[in-house]
Amino acid sequence: MPVETFTFLFTDIEGSTALVRRLGEGLYTQLLADHHSLIRSGLAAHDGSEVDTQGDAFFAVFSSPRACVAAVMEMQRALEDHAWPAGEHVRVRMGVHTGEASKTATGLVGLEVHRAARVAAAGYGGQVLLSETAAALVRDALPPGASLTDLGVHRLKDMGRPERIFQLQAAGLQAGFAPLRSLGNPALPNNLPAQLATFIGRARELTEVRALVASCRLVTLTGAGGCGKTRLSLQLAAELLDGSGDGVWLVELAAVSDESAVAAAISEALGIACQPGRPILDTLLDALAPQDMLIVLDNCEHLIGACAKTADAILRRCPRVHLVATSREPLGIGGEALYRVPPLSLPSAGNDLAAAESFDAVALFVDRARAQGAGLSFDEAAVPLVVSICRRLDGMPLAIELAAARLRSLSLSELSDRLDRRFRLLTGKLLDEPCALHGDVDHAGFVEAKDNPAEVRRGRVVQMDDSAFAAAQRFHRAPDKIAAVKTRYHGDLHLGQVIAVQNDFHIIDFEGEPGRPLAARRCGCPTL
Ligand SMILES: Nc1ncnc2c1ncn2[C@@H]1O[C@H](COP(=O)(O)OP(=O)(O)OP(=O)(O)O)[C@@H](O)[C@H]1O
Ligand SMILES: [Mg+2]
Repeated sequence: MPVETFTFLFTDIEGSTALVRRLGEGLYTQLLADHHSLIRSGLAAHDGSEVDTQGDAFFAVFSSPRACVAAVMEMQRALEDHAWPAGEHVRVRMGVHTGEASKTATGLVGLEVHRAARVAAAGYGGQVLLSETAAALVRDALPPGASLTDLGVHRLKDMGRPERIFQLQAAGLQAGFAPLRSLGNPALPNNLPAQLATFIGRARELTEVRALVASCRLVTLTGAGGCGKTRLSLQLAAELLDGSGDGVWLVELAAVSDESAVAAAISEALGIACQPGRPILDTLLDALAPQDMLIVLDNCEHLIGACAKTADAILRRCPRVHLVATSREPLGIGGEALYRVPPLSLPSAGNDLAAAESFDAVALFVDRARAQGAGLSFDEAAVPLVVSICRRLDGMPLAIELAAARLRSLSLSELSDRLDRRFRLLTGKLLDEPCALHGDVDHAGFVEAKDNPAEVRRGRVVQMDDSAFAAAQRFHRAPDKIAAVKTRYHGDLHLGQVIAVQNDFHIIDFEGEPGRPLAARRCGCPTL
């Protein structure tokens, strides 16, 4: 699929919803027509091509970043000078980025397109922002009187690699703006963690969950381990962070082992001090009662009872607090809306391979393979293999990341052959050095573990399904002492989990045959 370098331009009108409300539909339509014609004449004058227009937002591309900068200057001046209906002042935010994208049947596809959109979204009406790449390309060739101001490094809402952002300055362009709408802005209170790798796709899921969050104060994202619940919730939280209210807060529960510690974990994440002699839950509810915020309770499955009780109390006492939980099991309380996180989108067998990268599963594989330095060229030979790998992994993000990580040592066709073996690899988060796992997969343990979580003991490696695993975690009240190995089985076996009880949290990637020692990889475990 041909990959080309473009300069992307994203624009949109600041506060358009308020404009519609103020003007009514008739006048707003007139205003929008004026806006479209000003943007389009700027594009036409500098060889820009309109790719997509939705409502008040334009996506256009240029073959040269210089032409793009000349166009945005012309557009901003024309927008500033225009006599708008009802004396309104229309302010348009603009973001410019240069990078690669593939031309596909469904439009321009590539992560750089998303990055460009995020650059634009960090700005304010009237402001023109450039990514570092675009800035480097135009810095020495700016039109007379124009300059770039370095606004520093920002964590954009794609929660990926931070980006240095520049603002275009020139006569006729507005200059003074509030700090950028990025995650480090103190006006956007949050504790969302930096992510090492890019967020991919999920446009439909984000829209659906946003709609649920708007109508329901507790939304639980459910689904199998590794299907992307946590990552989706973080992205959703970042997108909902708009400066109104008291922010978005992540409470990571994976490492909390005691049901009684859930309220304390929430208080700690929110910086609420406990009061001696008072139950922590009471202090928490008092502090949250007047707040307008979103709290993400991440990985609730091993503390379902406590999470349900705490969430229920928050919903009852704190009318403007919204909760998003991620959990393999529902919390099971009144008012809970469930959203089952689907696998990443996959090309169907008959799909045109040329559009393969527009599917999330393929885009994730390609991104992670490239991040490994695997030098994956997405050419005609590679595309069918990548599509087939992603299809065999059922579009599960964790499995896709792990498979892509294998490209450090395997070629694409070796990886594909490997997946064809009856007993297939895969799981764990990112892996580091290999090690031997001294133990056999104990299939007898599978039956016992189902009804008797106490049998899930330190050093034992048994195969379990999701419910047995959750029961074992509850029994031990120490999820961090149970290493979950999510494994895909094929043939007559199905998606399951192998667990080993250890002192630390281990994630193991194994391949082997039942009854034989496993070759394992691990991350972060001293001994196994
Ligand atoms: N849309 C996405 N874009 C990029 N990476 C993703 C995406 N979805 C999931 N991942 C990655 O896949 C891995 C598994 O995702 P995640 O941890 O969100 O799964 P989960 O459903 O929360 O799993 P668990 O049940 O174990 O908590 C993570 O490394 C995550 O960053
Ligand atoms: Mg999770």
